[in-house]
Amino acid sequence: MALCVAGGIAAYKAPQVARLLLADGARVLPLMTRSAQRFVGAVTLSGLCNEPVRDDMWDPSFAGELHVALAAQADCVAVVPTTADLLARLAEGRADDLVTALCLVARGPLVLAPAMHPRMWSHPAVARNVATLRADGRATLIGPVFGAVASGEEGVGRMSEPEEIAAAIVRACVGRRDLAGRHVVVSAGPTVEDLDPVRFLGNRSTGKMGFAVAAAAADRGARVTLVTGPVHLPTPPGCARVDVRGALAMQAALDAALADEADALVMAAAVADHRPAEVSPHKTKKTEGDTLTLTLVKNPDLLAAIGARRGDARRPVLVGFAVETADLEAYARKKLASKRVDLVVGNLAAHGFGGDDDEVLFVDEGPARSLRGSKRSIADALLDDVVRRLA
Ligand code: CTP
Repeated sequence: MALCVAGGIAAYKAPQVARLLLADGARVLPLMTRSAQRFVGAVTLSGLCNEPVRDDMWDPSFAGELHVALAAQADCVAVVPTTADLLARLAEGRADDLVTALCLVARGPLVLAPAMHPRMWSHPAVARNVATLRADGRATLIGPVFGAVASGEEGVGRMSEPEEIAAAIVRACVGRRDLAGRHVVVSAGPTVEDLDPVRFLGNRSTGKMGFAVAAAAADRGARVTLVTGPVHLPTPPGCARVDVRGALAMQAALDAALADEADALVMAAAVADHRPAEVSPHKTKKTEGDTLTLTLVKNPDLLAAIGARRGDARRPVLVGFAVETADLEAYARKKLASKRVDLVVGNLAAHGFGGDDDEVLFVDEGPARSLRGSKRSIADALLDDVVRRLA
């Protein structure tokens, strides 16, 4: 694998990532940008890796195209740390130094570990570059995480720990197939309850969390059935998608999917608790008065019904979500018990909807664990938990 070091203070942790990868049996080809050399010595990396440190596209001692030759040898490329400048250059597809040229020509997985001051990370220009890289789907971003940065300030911008980065690189290189042979059912998005052919009652779920879980499960080898309410998201590769609108249709689709030897259900959908008592076949017309009263009837609690049906059996593993506006852990614990599920992923409404990142609380039989990061990294952590329960 190729380990590219860019110029940020977190570069001092790159040799630690190299050591962990070497201990795992990897051959590590070190590259550095010019500014990286202000933070960490090339001798440190070449000494650890027992390989020359490459930093120059125009290295006269190398016959041929160095970036192409490196790409041929590296089954995976990682950039540790990925600075704001490097994110910008990668998002633009530039090839103005050896590291960016290698990232462009590399065939295998590309792992980026961003690290910068929290105000840089939250700057709209950086957010735009991150969104571009995510939309391109070419790179996997690990972190940044919440914590103290070099200035002593706290926020999201701190590089993930070397152990986490090394594990992500190994995962990217060998491909984690720990859900191979498993059938994972995921529900996602809102349910919408039609009032008439034109109007509906809905909610603010965008489906991103559920789709991230489905994509991660498919990447890890699972057969995935993705039951989704109306969303504007492409189907993740390798997932069988079932589109529904209301809670009752979602229930029918889930029952059918679960009957097909499901090993786990991740219930990320924001299911409407109520639906109109009557659905008008025609567009309803404005009434004379100033108010309109709708009569709603209760929808079944899909997850609670599945939890009750499963009883004391251990399959399928059941994961629920809880979106709250206050008292997150207490409500999540209540749902864990009342719905008889294995894990509840709680998040506050202010954090969860629409974004690519999230802040959640994993609530199960043990102490609650809090997690911040991309929805994809939360999806992978959730699936780690599912894998543990399936073992
Ligand atoms: N859920 C469900 N069927 C419903 C409502 C919710 O299966 N009719 C599932 C959701 O998919 C989620 C979990 O139950 O995994 C919790 O959903 P949430 O809306 O937070 O909880 P509710 O049970 O609806 O409780 P409340 O609205 O009172 O917070």
